[in-house]
Amino acid sequence: MLNLDRLIVEFDNGLRTLFSRPHSTRPYPDAALPEASMSEEEKKHAAALMRVNHSGEVCAQALYQGQSLTARDPAVQQALKHAAEEETEHLAWTSRRVHELGGRLSVLNPLWYTGSLVIGAVAGLLGDKWNLGFLAETERQVGGHLQSHLDSLPLQDEKSRAVVKQMYADEIGHANLATTLGGVELPQSVQMVMKLNSKIMTNTVYWV
Ligand SMILES: [Fe+2]
Ligand SMILES: [Fe+2]
Repeated sequence: MLNLDRLIVEFDNGLRTLFSRPHSTRPYPDAALPEASMSEEEKKHAAALMRVNHSGEVCAQALYQGQSLTARDPAVQQALKHAAEEETEHLAWTSRRVHELGGRLSVLNPLWYTGSLVIGAVAGLLGDKWNLGFLAETERQVGGHLQSHLDSLPLQDEKSRAVVKQMYADEIGHANLATTLGGVELPQSVQMVMKLNSKIMTNTVYWV
């Protein structure tokens, strides 16, 4: 049940996602790799792609928080806790990588966060099977997106590639988990709207 205490906790989570330094329990996937030599153009492109990934992770924070506000089965909530913690690690990895590449984070992150929180909460209200189906489809689409970044990142940028590869493995794990927990396949029309939505977001964040 929604109550004021939960809302205050979620508001606090939101502020921390947006304004504080996220923590990673696992070592950074690129920790042992040296910084590659890249042209200014390549660095700018890699930073923009990692900024897109970072904003995606801001959305993931909000989605998991939104769904935990309204998810009905406590066992489901508990099972998703680990995935949500991994999302915080992704937030830390991508944020650091953007800065290492000389880039900055998206100024629109508060907007993406709020939108995703509402979407996550609405998905939660529809019941766990749809909530989990939505989560699985989101994770699958993020996975597809990360694959496309592996094709687009400068080949020599092993550090960004290591981060993206580990995130990809994690996101596919999250998708499978949500399906195993009872997530149903979403109608094609909903999948299309989600793809369109993420296309608009990623194209915008690449620049701002
Ligand atoms: Fe993630
Ligand atoms: Fe994920």
